[in-house]
Amino acid sequence: GIVNVASSTNLLTDSKSLQLVLEPSLQLLSRKQRRLIRQNPGILHSVSGGLQSAVRECKWQFRNRRWNCPTAPGPHLFGKIVNRGCRETAFIFAITSAGVTHSVARSCSEGSIESCTCDYRRRGPGGPDWHWGGCSDNIDFGRLFGREFVDSGEKGRDLRFLMNLHNNEAGRTTVFSEMRQECKCHGMSGSCTVRTCWMRLPTLRAVGDVLRDRFDGASRVLYGNRGSNRASRAELLRLEPEDPAHKPPSPHDLVYFEKSPNFCTYSGRLGTAGTAGRACNSSSPALDGCELLCCGRGHRTRTQRVTERCNCTFHWCCHVSCRNCTHTRVLHECL
Ligand SMILES: *[C@@H]1O[C@H](CO)[C@@H](O)[C@H](O)[C@H]1NC(C)=O
Ligand SMILES: *[C@@H]1O[C@H](CO)[C@@H](O)[C@H](O)[C@H]1NC(C)=O
Ligand SMILES: *[C@@H]1O[C@H](CO)[C@@H](O)[C@H](O)[C@H]1NC(C)=O
Repeated sequence: GIVNVASSTNLLTDSKSLQLVLEPSLQLLSRKQRRLIRQNPGILHSVSGGLQSAVRECKWQFRNRRWNCPTAPGPHLFGKIVNRGCRETAFIFAITSAGVTHSVARSCSEGSIESCTCDYRRRGPGGPDWHWGGCSDNIDFGRLFGREFVDSGEKGRDLRFLMNLHNNEAGRTTVFSEMRQECKCHGMSGSCTVRTCWMRLPTLRAVGDVLRDRFDGASRVLYGNRGSNRASRAELLRLEPEDPAHKPPSPHDLVYFEKSPNFCTYSGRLGTAGTAGRACNSSSPALDGCELLCCGRGHRTRTQRVTERCNCTFHWCCHVSCRNCTHTRVLHECL
């Protein structure tokens, strides 16, 4: 009965989400999550958009890997992987959490959420030749809301709980730390004697790129219950690196505690589709190459005739005519 990010994702990415969430018989969102939506008119649309962008970003970042962030309609959008404790689970939590924070922070500055605005606390002089002004994206509101809304889907006190919360926070922290200052010049005839600056969110692609690197360097952790048995509760709730020679994970790091399945073959138990039928690149030595993607099973090659509009010309006025070009494309697919 845990309401996790995935089940709320599923609910919210449904195009009919507005009715569904407000339908009290559907208990997929916790009472707290529904209260937060009521208290912040306009935010549901933003959360939903953020989750959809996160799903697209996940698929893009992993498009060339054995696990390519598959999703399925139904109550379990990302499938069984969200109930595991592997790197892929870590990425899903981080990117969905980042997506919500990113979208909410932007919606605040666009004026589409009634309870927040641009971050106007950045005011006054900022440096010798510039001052704060304009409309900064409201990352503080986005982070606070994300902590309340996304994290409240996690229950328990176990390792999985700590891992999910850590990765949710890593997603939000990444959005925050990738923010950039943008400035506009004022002054006589374009001279830049005075500048007005504000803070702008990164693109979600930039966030996805950073999180994908963190996925590759994720830390394997275990429950930090070593040491004194008089440790406080806060001390008990701590993740430690599995290898004591490693540094403890920083707030930016993704953490996991379980080895990933190999994602090579179909497994109903693990919920993996396998890579049979996936397109691979026969000349690449990397993860998208046929050797690695097909897990050594080999691949078949077929040609496909594709017709495209080409050589388009503009005729005055106003239509465009194109020719049809047919060429053959060679496709490689894993066996
Ligand atoms: C396949 O891999 C090679 C080598 O990495 C690369 O140059 C080429 O662009 C790739 N082709 C496609 C269709 O991605
Ligand atoms: C495109 O159009 C030009 C001019 O009509 C022609 O010379 C050329 O061969 C065409 N190319 C293709 C690929 O059809
Ligand atoms: C190109 O193909 C489309 C659809 O197959 C067809 O309707 C159109 O007439 C073709 N155009 C030319 C210039 O052959």
